[in-house]
Amino acid sequence: MLNKIHHVGVVVNSADEALRFYRDALGLHVTDDRIIEDQGVRGVLLKIGNSEIELLEPTRDDTGVAKFLASRGEGMHHICFESDDVDAELEGARARGIPLIDEKPRPGLAGMICFLHPKANHGVLVEFATPLAGGHEDAAASTIASHIDHIVISSNDSAATAKLFSDNLGIEIKRAMVRPGTGAHLEFAKLQEVILEFAGPGEVKPYDEVKAKLSGVVLAVDDLSATLAAIRAAGFSAGDPHPAVQPGALFTGMKGGTNGVPFGFIQYNALPVAE
Ligand code: CO
Repeated sequence: MLNKIHHVGVVVNSADEALRFYRDALGLHVTDDRIIEDQGVRGVLLKIGNSEIELLEPTRDDTGVAKFLASRGEGMHHICFESDDVDAELEGARARGIPLIDEKPRPGLAGMICFLHPKANHGVLVEFATPLAGGHEDAAASTIASHIDHIVISSNDSAATAKLFSDNLGIEIKRAMVRPGTGAHLEFAKLQEVILEFAGPGEVKPYDEVKAKLSGVVLAVDDLSATLAAIRAAGFSAGDPHPAVQPGALFTGMKGGTNGVPFGFIQYNALPVAE
């Protein structure tokens, strides 16, 4: 079974440039940084709570990551779920007829890994990983943000995408709601500390084709004001805090500088913002 979200993969032009935000501004610790020759990428993993952010910089032009960068630019590339047994996970997926990229697990940055075909999950690229012994558990925590609060998967039919992820990956959908104001249909799953938010219109059916994509990362912080001060001191730009959908929570979004990742911060149990 899938225990948690191991990492989100982000394709970048330059890992060195991206580290200015993810390492230097956010204070995330690098747990691995190496070139994987056969995949033609430099991969950098940064620890955030019990998960990681994986930066992927192509080192040559003939790889999937290089083609993604050329066609879509920098941004969220895949989501990786951790399992104790990646072989069993892949066998289970194959037995259920889920289209695969990898026919068997192979060594990757996160341990033994494999990818499902994106068409299996409405266009979202999903990786499974079983970390090798002596993984990345003991890296120091960031003082800016404690963990990934949620990862957004947007879809033109979020109910259908949530159901597909539930069916394909055995993820339990815990809650559904309509976002006040916009009428967007939201569904939520949670793996350990990280919420998966399926966001979309969800009302205008039927669609000829349901399409989904990874569309945001939100970090949980204890003190949003302090986080914003640190972000701004590091030369990055973020909006002003405003109330989030969750009662008592404040949210702010980054204004660029995050390598194509819609990026924000949330503080729960916050005092109301003065009008
Ligand atoms: Co990955």
